[in-house]
Amino acid sequence: MNNQPEARVRFTRQEEPRSAQILQRDERTFRVHTSAYTDERVFREEMDKVFAKTWVYVGHASEIPKAGDFKTSHIGLQPVVVSRGEDDTIHVFVNRCVHRGAVLTRDARGNATEFNCPYHGWVYGIDGRLIAVSERREPGGYSENFRQPEGLFRLPRVATYRGFIFASFNADAPGLEAFLGRARSVIDRKLNLAPGGEIVLRSRPFVVRYQGNWKFQAENIVDAYHFLHTHKGFVNLQARFGDTTGDFGVHKGGSVKEMRKLRFQGATWSCAHGHGMLENPSSHPETYLEGEFSSFYEGIRRTHGDEEFAWLVGKGAVSIFPNVGMIHQQIRTWRPIAPDVTEVTIYPYELKDAPDAYNEGMLRSQERFYGPAGHGAADDVDIFSRNQQGLLGSAVDWLILERGLDTDELVDGDWRGLPASEAPQRALWRAWARLMCEEQT
Ligand code: FES
Ligand SMILES: [Fe+2]
Repeated sequence: MNNQPEARVRFTRQEEPRSAQILQRDERTFRVHTSAYTDERVFREEMDKVFAKTWVYVGHASEIPKAGDFKTSHIGLQPVVVSRGEDDTIHVFVNRCVHRGAVLTRDARGNATEFNCPYHGWVYGIDGRLIAVSERREPGGYSENFRQPEGLFRLPRVATYRGFIFASFNADAPGLEAFLGRARSVIDRKLNLAPGGEIVLRSRPFVVRYQGNWKFQAENIVDAYHFLHTHKGFVNLQARFGDTTGDFGVHKGGSVKEMRKLRFQGATWSCAHGHGMLENPSSHPETYLEGEFSSFYEGIRRTHGDEEFAWLVGKGAVSIFPNVGMIHQQIRTWRPIAPDVTEVTIYPYELKDAPDAYNEGMLRSQERFYGPAGHGAADDVDIFSRNQQGLLGSAVDWLILERGLDTDELVDGDWRGLPASEAPQRALWRAWARLMCEEQT
């Protein structure tokens, strides 16, 4: 199942990481050891025990709307193809020819009737079935006794939630809805802002690599604490000049005092399967019912009611363990490449059936903060590489993730924290520890 080289470094029994060596936890303590972000052996273990064992996001249904559409993705280090078959079934298989291993396609997205291996020409259907072995009967070809494989390695579990496609190498993974748990509420609320309840990924994503561990991005997308500090330049610009792209609810302007107030409202969550969440319903939902998009917002308010409307136009963000998040009007994925190399892909999405001017305005607003020339995304990736650089200071062992620990409350199996608590970051580490360490102790 795993295509890591056999000769890879493995832990001996004595060397295996133990929860006590990686995480320090009690009522007052929540600390993570440096090696969890830097050690090559830990990284290899993560590929086997985290990415190959849990549900991993591989794409959105709107990226492959028609039969024959496909996209490439990754589960940990393993390249995969996500395709839509003739009967509308979504297939996820390992992007590796079963002959001698070539990747079948490197295209980010496309449409095909079949995959033709570029090395020796074996042919696979869009569903991954092996259709033809080239020159099979030619001299020196394959005999009657040849045990011909059925096709590409197919992932045993594929499931979707409101268009979000997840796959797992683990046939025993829990049901997807149970796995997502409370984190579904952020997906639901972001999608319910669309009149049709659906989103469409149409724009080209923005892809960036940084010199740091993948968990820095997983932690950061739900880090309400960092904004005023990491993005100080943006905050000062916005306080001085306002929001020149119009108000689409993304990084709304105002004074620094107002921005600070907004960051310290709402709640944080540490969900059972490792998902971190920020919740912040709007305290002024009625303002959305005035202005250019009043009829769009009014339709949403009528459909969902006043109370829910405040949540729909509020600010929510989620980090779905291990590799995808939602913030503002985007889906963001992060792909581990090495302990200190990660690729982030940002997909801005459109709300189906919302006014074109709304979707366009939101896209401009996303570009302003997250695009290649944006004011904010560069700040974050710089911090992730600073983190990795700082961890070379190995005289210090531990990172501290204790903010708000003593005020977290257990609610139906999930921890709810105060705003700007590190509860969402602790979510990741709780699930990580279960998968990496406790199973073996
Ligand atoms: S590696 Fe694909 S046909 Fe040989
Ligand atoms: Fe940030």
